[in-house]
Amino acid sequence: MEPLRSSSLMLLLLVICCSSTAAVAAAKKRTYIVHMAKSQMPPAFAEHRHWYDASLRSVSDTAEILYAYDTVAHGFSARLTPAEARAMERRPGVLGVMAEARYELHTTRTPEFLGLDRTEGFIPQSNTTSDVVVGVLDTGVWPERKSYDDAGLGPVPASWKGACEEGKDFKAANACNRKLVGARFFSKGYEARMGPINLTKESRSPRDNDGHGTHTSSTVAGSAVPDVDFLGYAAGTARGMSTRARIAVYKVCWLGGCFGSDILAAMDKAIEDGCGVLSLSLGGGMSDYYRDNIAVGAFSAMAMGVVVSCSAGNAGPGASTLSNVAPWITTVGAGTLDRDFPANVLLSNGKNYTGVSLYSGKPLPSSPLPFIYAGNATNTTNGNLCITGTLLPDKVAGKIVLCDRGINARVQKGLVVRDAGGAGMILANTAANGEELVADAHLLPATAVGEIAGDAIKSYLFSDPNPTATIAFRGTKVGVKPSPVVAAFSSRGPSAITPDILKPDLIAPGVNILAAWTGSVGPTGQAVDPRRTEFNIISGTSMSCPHVSGLLALLKGAHPDWSPGAIKSALMTTAYAAYPGDGGILDVATGRAATPFDFGAGHVDPPKALDPGLVYNLTNEDYLDFLCALNYTPLQIARLSRLTNYTCDRQKAYEVSDLNYPSFAVAFATASTTVKHTRTLTNVGAPGTYKATVSAPEDVKVVVEPTALTFAALGEKKNYTVTFSTASQPSGSTAFGRLEWSDAQHVVASPLAFSWT
Ligand SMILES: *[C@@H]1O[C@H](CO)[C@@H](O)[C@H](O)[C@H]1NC(C)=O
Ligand SMILES: *[C@@H]1O[C@H](CO)[C@@H](O)[C@H](O)[C@H]1NC(C)=O
Ligand SMILES: *[C@@H]1O[C@H](CO)[C@@H](O)[C@H](O)[C@H]1NC(C)=O
Ligand SMILES: *[C@@H]1O[C@H](CO)[C@@H](O)[C@H](O)[C@H]1NC(C)=O
Ligand SMILES: *[C@@H]1O[C@H](CO)[C@@H](O)[C@H](O)[C@H]1NC(C)=O
Ligand SMILES: *[C@@H]1O[C@H](CO)[C@@H](O)[C@H](O)[C@H]1NC(C)=O
Ligand SMILES: *[C@@H]1O[C@H](CO)[C@@H](O)[C@H](O)[C@H]1NC(C)=O
Ligand SMILES: *[C@@H]1O[C@H](CO)[C@@H](O)[C@H](O)[C@H]1NC(C)=O
Repeated sequence: MEPLRSSSLMLLLLVICCSSTAAVAAAKKRTYIVHMAKSQMPPAFAEHRHWYDASLRSVSDTAEILYAYDTVAHGFSARLTPAEARAMERRPGVLGVMAEARYELHTTRTPEFLGLDRTEGFIPQSNTTSDVVVGVLDTGVWPERKSYDDAGLGPVPASWKGACEEGKDFKAANACNRKLVGARFFSKGYEARMGPINLTKESRSPRDNDGHGTHTSSTVAGSAVPDVDFLGYAAGTARGMSTRARIAVYKVCWLGGCFGSDILAAMDKAIEDGCGVLSLSLGGGMSDYYRDNIAVGAFSAMAMGVVVSCSAGNAGPGASTLSNVAPWITTVGAGTLDRDFPANVLLSNGKNYTGVSLYSGKPLPSSPLPFIYAGNATNTTNGNLCITGTLLPDKVAGKIVLCDRGINARVQKGLVVRDAGGAGMILANTAANGEELVADAHLLPATAVGEIAGDAIKSYLFSDPNPTATIAFRGTKVGVKPSPVVAAFSSRGPSAITPDILKPDLIAPGVNILAAWTGSVGPTGQAVDPRRTEFNIISGTSMSCPHVSGLLALLKGAHPDWSPGAIKSALMTTAYAAYPGDGGILDVATGRAATPFDFGAGHVDPPKALDPGLVYNLTNEDYLDFLCALNYTPLQIARLSRLTNYTCDRQKAYEVSDLNYPSFAVAFATASTTVKHTRTLTNVGAPGTYKATVSAPEDVKVVVEPTALTFAALGEKKNYTVTFSTASQPSGSTAFGRLEWSDAQHVVASPLAFSWT
């Protein structure tokens, strides 16, 4: 599947890496993160930095420390050969040496859709909401956008220790204020790997030359900007989820990618600066938690009370396609809004098919135009995809061209049609994307249709000797039903690392989201797009993650004494998995009901999350028990926790199933047919009695013990167990259910996901 954003970043990367001789010469070296046991520093050294330097010098005469880490990790990063890395691993005080990972970006009606307009009254008007600073690790910021206006906000929180770093095109005095309270950039790891930043292409500063970081940070906590639109679409007020929270940006992604050493350094700094929430709309491949730079940074963040939310990835709809699955991270998938941008295809046979588009230029002539399939206007294979140079101008001149989706960027296909002399484009999904429609700001009249409509249009094209078509652009439509539906691109569970922890955790809006944009490139991100817009509409779990980050900030502001685990629990146990009164949330990929492997606990419901009744709290100790249950070695635990002497208790029977998580995933092995989970609920509301109800699938017997829990006081804890029994099922089977605890006011719901292996 093509990326949801332009694919130009990756192409650029190849060009840079293959044309730079410096990169070739350094090819044998990699960037490693060296985890050190800070407490084991020999007394001869006055400072850790000196010890790190001496350790590095002992394995390499030339290597230099890129970053020294002190908050979310202890140690440093440096470029080493594999032999030097192995030598380093044997040095005293070294806990582990991990090659850095590479990550990529997972590329406003939202507040009303989420009920936030109804919430204002619920949020305590204490100053604590505006004390929360959300750190956004992304491509930087375009600070001149109105979303960063600080009118009406009090002074920068006294506890804030961050900075506004200057650099090319970025002056602190003009950029930072009481809304954008910090801005830093991290390029050492990137430059060590890719060579110096090309300053004619991007700014060596927090300035956002891409757009992604401006979009995500303004979604988290952008100030309300009335009367905005994007090229005439989606008119209304644009605002972030927590308009009173503060934003700090940490630029870690550059045109050639995002690297682990920079990300870890940014997390280290963000926590030292005083961020209460971290938002990362980026991810990489699956690896064990202690190897994953984001999971390592997030563990210490959690232990220090900082909430971390990450995008689930855009690799759906296949199973087990998630990234960022550590249980101490909130993993966010994407759903649709109730807003759409219809643009219909009208054929001369009288048929009318609904597509979507954000095209806003000169309309097509009112009379229908000749119409051709790209696959009939090319003499190369794959010409149906409208890849550069594959369309024959004499076949497409003046016509509407139907292109199939896939391989190259959607907007680029339109440019290929335009450059070959075509008048318009219909972009048709194939099986890979099914009925999922993502609206684009095409540079020629164009609309996108699903696979069913695409196939019907093709059969008309192949049967009518003189096919004609036109496109009717119908603007913005709200109130679309059903909504939300799970986006096909949203990555799916089960977790490949720990199948006994249900992931993703929840879904939030991530399709056709309006938020602020960079002034460096046009809304399509294509070099040939001359337009510059204050806002843009884009899609991805990159967009759903900052929605949740902003909501986590709201909850943290409303409940400053809640742990990260309690805050996540509140969002999860109040999420909804069904439409009011009729059926489960649908999955665009299948057209059928989605499952907890697609949406986790369900879709966020912020007004309810503010008052969840009960929470599944999680402490640092709980997560250490979880690592013991995974049979992690003391060195692996040390890399995550910075605890150099932590040993699991050999007498204790650690079980992943006992992690006090707000959801349940049970992977039945054929042999074991009964699994017991233990949970502890903490009362965060009024005293009361909660009763359990279970909706279990046919093949699983679920027993909750006890079935009623009475809480007499705030903060009181009660335990329960739930036992799942099943007869053996064919390998690969799945089944789902839901467990709810409710008093008169609250429903504390957990999804149940079963799989048989
Ligand atoms: C919020 O802060 C302002 C100024 O810092 C102060 O005047 C006001 O009383 C505070 N409000 C609350 C509810 O604490
Ligand atoms: C930097 O980018 C510009 C614009 O693409 C290009 O012309 C120039 O050659 C690049 N410089 C280097 C050193 O790669
Ligand atoms: C095509 O269908 C849409 C609804 O899907 C309708 O609004 C529009 O008027 C129709 N156009 C024609 C020409 O039938
Ligand atoms: C157009 O392409 C389709 C599918 O590749 C084929 O079935 C059809 O015969 C072609 N039509 C013409 C006129 O070449
Ligand atoms: C493609 O077809 C055009 C005419 O339709 C012809 O001029 C050209 O040589 C063909 N190219 C190839 C590679 O076959
Ligand atoms: C959860 O546990 C943490 C750590 O023990 C504690 O500080 C907090 O008060 C507990 N309760 C809630 C609701 O966060
Ligand atoms: C951890 O254990 C080592 C070796 O047993 C010891 O030297 C060190 O002081 C211990 N550190 C702490 C913090 O207990
Ligand atoms: C509840 O469970 C926790 C953790 O498993 C345990 O430490 C505690 O003793 C239990 N409390 C009761 C009252 O059983």
